[in-house]
Amino acid sequence: MNILQINASARREGANSTRVANSIAARLRSAHPDASLTLRDFAVSPHPVLDETALGALFTPAEKRTPDQTARVALDDVLIAEVQAADAIVLGVPMYNFGVPTQLKNWIDAIARNGVTFRYTDKGPEGLLKGKTVYVGLARGGRYRGTEADSQVPYLKAVLGFLGMTDVRFIYAEGLNMGPESARQGFAQAEADLATALALNPMRWNSLTSEGAERR
Ligand SMILES: Cc1cc2nc3c(=O)[nH]c(=O)nc-3n(C[C@H](O)[C@H](O)[C@H](O)COP(=O)(O)O)c2cc1C
Repeated sequence: MNILQINASARREGANSTRVANSIAARLRSAHPDASLTLRDFAVSPHPVLDETALGALFTPAEKRTPDQTARVALDDVLIAEVQAADAIVLGVPMYNFGVPTQLKNWIDAIARNGVTFRYTDKGPEGLLKGKTVYVGLARGGRYRGTEADSQVPYLKAVLGFLGMTDVRFIYAEGLNMGPESARQGFAQAEADLATALALNPMRWNSLTSEGAERR
């Protein structure tokens, strides 16, 4: 049982999305005390952007890469290995300017690799990161749940689903910049959403491990 926690806030300290992600991970670990937790905090260790240099490295055959290109691809390889090994993935995601933060986009750009985490078949694309549950802890200054202004949820459903991660559960902490009472309600709503998300299949991992079933 492996949990991967991704903190995507730009802030190392005091990040609301990290607070929600920590809460999710803590609940998962208390339900599964033997679970391992891998923590990746992109405010502490930023991942490089997918720029022309990175694309050049990725599209150069491995045996022809320069040492710099090999090193650049290896940075993405680490993130791919982490997500492949994870059974549960916890994302702490602030809303920045109506979208996902650059930090999260850089992670997505790193893990989306043709032939490794998805592939194209004659029937269309196939995601290869299967059998995982993703918990997304959202932190927002305003309130956008269920509105057209919420580009984050459809985007994350689409891109994670494309990679094979179709079991995605959203936990909303909203209205965090609308005064103390609104913030309190926002975090309370996140706790309620988390309880709902965890109740969807509380025995799923247990039954799989106890029956020795194939890794999902
Ligand atoms: C650069 C920036 C852009 C923001 N854009 C939005 C926004 O578009 N909508 C919103 O509701 N809140 C927005 N906020 C507020 C954040 O979503 C809110 O403060 C959230 O708690 C930040 O999460 P964090 O503490 O994990 O970084 C923005 C905050 C910053 C710093």
